[in-house]
Amino acid sequence: MTQHSHEPPASAPEVIHALKGFNARIQVPGDKSMSHRALIFGALAEGTSEIRGLLDAADVRSTWRCLARMGVEIDEQDDVVKIHGVGIQGLQNPEGDLDCGNSGTTLRLLMGVLAGQRFSTRLTGDASLSRRPMQRVADPLRLMGADISLRDKKLPPVVITGQPLQGIDYALPVASAQLKSALILAGIYTKTPVTLRGEIYSRDHTERMLPHFGVKLEQTHNQISIQPGQSLKATQFTVPGDPSTAAFWLAAAALIPGACIELPHVSLNPSRLGFVRVLERMGAKIEILDSDGASEPSGTLRLTGGELIGTDVTPEEIPDLVDEVPLIAVLGARAKGMTEVRGAAELRIKESDRLEALRENLNRMNVELELYPDGFKISGQQTLMGAEIDPMHDHRIAMAFAIAGLVAEGPVNIHDPGCVAISYPQFFTTLHSLKGS
Ligand code: S3P
Repeated sequence: MTQHSHEPPASAPEVIHALKGFNARIQVPGDKSMSHRALIFGALAEGTSEIRGLLDAADVRSTWRCLARMGVEIDEQDDVVKIHGVGIQGLQNPEGDLDCGNSGTTLRLLMGVLAGQRFSTRLTGDASLSRRPMQRVADPLRLMGADISLRDKKLPPVVITGQPLQGIDYALPVASAQLKSALILAGIYTKTPVTLRGEIYSRDHTERMLPHFGVKLEQTHNQISIQPGQSLKATQFTVPGDPSTAAFWLAAAALIPGACIELPHVSLNPSRLGFVRVLERMGAKIEILDSDGASEPSGTLRLTGGELIGTDVTPEEIPDLVDEVPLIAVLGARAKGMTEVRGAAELRIKESDRLEALRENLNRMNVELELYPDGFKISGQQTLMGAEIDPMHDHRIAMAFAIAGLVAEGPVNIHDPGCVAISYPQFFTTLHSLKGS
């Protein structure tokens, strides 16, 4: 008898060849962080929210599915996703596990929402998510009165039995927007205020988007507070393009002399533009052609490739470019001089150990990278050789090495290319289209 596995069949590797130059305009899909938040906030709102530009990718579908399992109706017509909100008390017991797939944002944000419900839930994830630490969210939620159990005291599955919650005055120990957002969301369910201090500087989409849904937050440079007794109201929101996705095309154009890329309607939220600032420092010419000045601002970025020089990325810069660090290693391998990244220990607990994945795959390309516990050092002007790349089931590693393939000598084979569906299903189609541009 044949044994059927639950894993989807492995797709053939994507073969990437070097590219001499290109001139392209690419509309990148909607921002992943904002898409998760639009769905969750819309679900908790009273009334029907209309979201345009929502990212259609596996991670966002995980959030969508979990909310649907709790009785939230969500439908799509053309480019508009309508979320029929149930109000903050309207979620229903899903009866059975909520599968968050590969998505840390789904699991961590929902922990905040579920801590204050009147039912018990079990949140699960795939093999990668099941290795990611959840105690950073569970600890402060427990201080608020939540009943949470974790596997081996730190990992998913996460079992949450909803409880009446009290407010908290808490110093965040790590700069994590997922942690910060989970606690703000739990603050919707408390009887007293929630105040966050410490490492509050990280991407601020929750702070910018919740007011669209009628929730007031009080913010100073070193604290964020949410007052109790607030509800969410339905709204209309357009999700701009994802700067972490745009980063792959910016890097491609920066690496190839004479290449030019234009990216319309991409988020210009300053907490997401760290990579653009690093690229400029490395010598890339970047222009912002237009900017709409919205509370979640967006506009057009244009980059023209030239000579790159190495740079030092400091710990303070990491929150603004945390998902783009793999690309900085690729750029550093080609730039003139040395590139160093410090303060990026968080990369070890992303969808893969991204520092280790970088070292392993750059070595396969015959490129040396010196690893630190919290970053790396890489000398530039190295020749990238064609190689077999193992993305370790991590979408951002697969895409970063596909970009490396554009400047490699010999074909680069990206194994398990299907993993890019987590955030950017069209990535390889768009990449191959650069050839003719
Ligand atoms: C995200 C926050 C970041 C980021 C992730 C999305 C979010 O994670 O890496 O891709 O939407 O809040 P951390 O909060 O763990 O830094």
